Amino acid sequence: MVKKNFCVFISGRGSNLKSIIEKSIKKNFPGNLILVISNKRHAKGLRIARKFNILTLVIEENKRILFEKKILKLVKKYKIRLICLAGFMQILSPYIINNFKRKIINIHPSLLPKFKGLNTHERALRSKEKFAGCTVHYVNKKIDTGSTILQKKVIIKKNDTVASLQKRVLKQEHLIYPKAIKYILNR
Ligand code: GRF
Repeated sequence: MVKKNFCVFISGRGSNLKSIIEKSIKKNFPGNLILVISNKRHAKGLRIARKFNILTLVIEENKRILFEKKILKLVKKYKIRLICLAGFMQILSPYIINNFKRKIINIHPSLLPKFKGLNTHERALRSKEKFAGCTVHYVNKKIDTGSTILQKKVIIKKNDTVASLQKRVLKQEHLIYPKAIKYILNR
């Protein structure tokens, strides 16, 4: 099997990155995680990538357009077929979305289209939702509106706090993100 190159963008902790790495090093995974890019030099996830000997790059560029031009160069250089955002706290502009004709995907900790943006668990609890969850979706020009690839529901319990709910949803994120990547790269 010829594995397709893909990369992950992070800004922080990198627990989704870790789950993606662990799945991607398996023999039957269709992708080769060739590069991890962070816009923050102190992102903890960088350490995880380095531990697995994955090439890491930090691009701390204030000007978004310069950041994205650098990314597009790397995408070409490493023949990247898919960009996976995993806790990447920077909005991508139409420039990169239009110029990367392959695919950009993201994981979001809510059942989109509900609770786009930040503080999703807090908002789900406050609105007395029965379910929370997570969604892997395509990235388009409007935040958290691209079409859904995979979604997983989690029941909200009576005594749930933001922390307990976040923990349960995150566990599901770690399962569906590698699955979604596998699905896309297999097509
Ligand atoms: C996750 O909850 C993800 O859904 C959101 O940001 C968080 C990143 O966590 N987009 P981690 O860095 O993968 O641990």
